[in-house]
Amino acid sequence: MKPVRKAVFPVAGLGTRFLPATKSIPKEMLTIVDKPLIQYAVEEAREAGVEQMIFVTGRGKDALEDHFDIAYELEAVMRGRGKSLEALDSTRSIPGSIVSVRQQEPLGLGHAVWCAREIVGDEPFAVLLPDDLMWGKPGCLRQMVDAYERVGGNIICAQQVAREKTSSYGIITPGRSDGALTEVKGLVEKPKPEEAPSTLGVVGRYILQPEVMRVLDRQESGAGGEIQLTDAMAALIGTQPFHGLTVDAVRYDCGDKAGFVTANIALALERADVGPSVRAFIADLG
Ligand code: UTP
Repeated sequence: MKPVRKAVFPVAGLGTRFLPATKSIPKEMLTIVDKPLIQYAVEEAREAGVEQMIFVTGRGKDALEDHFDIAYELEAVMRGRGKSLEALDSTRSIPGSIVSVRQQEPLGLGHAVWCAREIVGDEPFAVLLPDDLMWGKPGCLRQMVDAYERVGGNIICAQQVAREKTSSYGIITPGRSDGALTEVKGLVEKPKPEEAPSTLGVVGRYILQPEVMRVLDRQESGAGGEIQLTDAMAALIGTQPFHGLTVDAVRYDCGDKAGFVTANIALALERADVGPSVRAFIADLG
């Protein structure tokens, strides 16, 4: 079984639900406490053993690449003032470990993943949507890689969602379950609540086999006129092992304003530096 060494980060979306913040900064640069969403996702991938991060970007997304580059001027000034550079350590990356490709037009998540096909090559790969902040120990992708090493094939991150929310998710037709793993018999993108085959939704982490790129080569559009990753994955069911993993992690939907604010509060409360002040503030609210 080939290891998962590469991860695709589709970050070319327009982030229209988060305007005006996302007019000139990418959604993935919004911070949870003091770290941008993209960095949480990259750290999660590193923890899972991923060696190469592939950003699928678009116009106006240069800040994402800059974030993992060396900031010469900033570092020189800080050194000159005798300040610690420790806060920048986690943004350093091994040269060559971050590459980016452009998705010229936002034609959908499936299309964004397909844009990385030449770099992914003939290997299994992970996909992480940074606006789904997955908070767990071990990290969500680590848990998925552990499951992949047992059953192989394709593994998608699954979570129960409210029936009235099925039209916001890819929904799984479940087969047999074995602990946290559920066999995936079918997948449907954004079904109406009354048509959803279950309430087991797909959230933003995937381990996929490279054959999904051959399905995406067809460039077929689905729900909302977009090229959907869900449809391409559905075409692989029956030809390869396909499982949903219910991970032990909390998901914060940071593409949504309420989810973003919630994530900030939850992660701030866990921190030794800012936690006590935030807790005191909340206690004062009564
Ligand atoms: P979303 O639909 O949540 O992202 O796509 P969006 O389009 O940026 O947000 P809204 O709905 O307008 O607010 C899920 C993920 O897929 C990426 C997005 O960047 C996000 O990480 N994506 C989506 C692309 O990279 N390209 C696309 O064409 C569509």
